[in-house]
Amino acid sequence: MEILNWKELLYPYEQAVAELTLKLEYTMTEYKKLGMYSPMESVTGRVKKPSSILDKANKKSITHEKIEEEIEDIAGVRILCQFVEDIPKVISLIHRRDGRDLTILEERDYITNTKPSGYRSYHIIIKYPINSVAGYREILAEIQIRTLAMNFWAVTEHSLKYKYSGNIPKEIKERLINCAEAAFNMDNEMSTIRNEIMYAQRINKLKDNLIADIIDYIQNLYFVTKLDEMEAVNKQLVDLWSNGDIESLKAFKDKLSEMAKVYGV
Ligand code: GTP
Ligand code: MG
Repeated sequence: MEILNWKELLYPYEQAVAELTLKLEYTMTEYKKLGMYSPMESVTGRVKKPSSILDKANKKSITHEKIEEEIEDIAGVRILCQFVEDIPKVISLIHRRDGRDLTILEERDYITNTKPSGYRSYHIIIKYPINSVAGYREILAEIQIRTLAMNFWAVTEHSLKYKYSGNIPKEIKERLINCAEAAFNMDNEMSTIRNEIMYAQRINKLKDNLIADIIDYIQNLYFVTKLDEMEAVNKQLVDLWSNGDIESLKAFKDKLSEMAKVYGV
């Protein structure tokens, strides 16, 4: 059997994971910069450990020559969403890239078709182009898209599987199925209050922005106004901070903006 050069084997996968996570993180940041709700809550990636690659190759009787062809998740990217409703949006973001910087090979919808274990997630297997010192090539990668609740379940189940070397006792398996159901119910419950949560997130962001602007004004006015005037402004900020609504914060900001104009700062 051919001896594997792990460094050479894994390098393109490391590059793919780094590139894919960076690209998706940028999309996330762009949503936020535009003041929009991002359907992605977080993006992480990892390259499968050599020991796990060998385990999988043994389990599936894959020869070393075929590892790169047949193990699809050596490069893995995971996108977490707050709500089930966000998942189709993330899927279409990936679809939009199909034929451009990646090629979709297969999609597995374990959300519609929950696995017997209780596992839920949406998987997209892609081919991804890599330009490295060694030249151009395409490698396989797996993108997993799931909610925070689905992830909580999967990560816990995975560590139990690890602890019991794949043979989780029947009683624990049954409990895990109950937990999967609880996670499913949680996703559904969250969906019903999604609008409220999204509204609260928008208001908080607005409030943060207003407070940042107000503090900027106060900072500038500090050097040019009278002390007692500044004391009154500070007192008003403290009051508004604890019980001000968006409207009164906005009015306060407008007032400071007028003051700044008068003082020419
Ligand atoms: P493996 O399950 O990875 O051997 O390959 P496969 O060809 O059966 O693909 P599948 O789509 O079933 O699984 C791909 C990946 O999804 C796995 O490597 C896991 O990360 C995840 N996964 C699939 N099933 C389960 C499960 O029952 N529990 C957990 N925690 N993760 C799962
Ligand atoms: Mg499997």
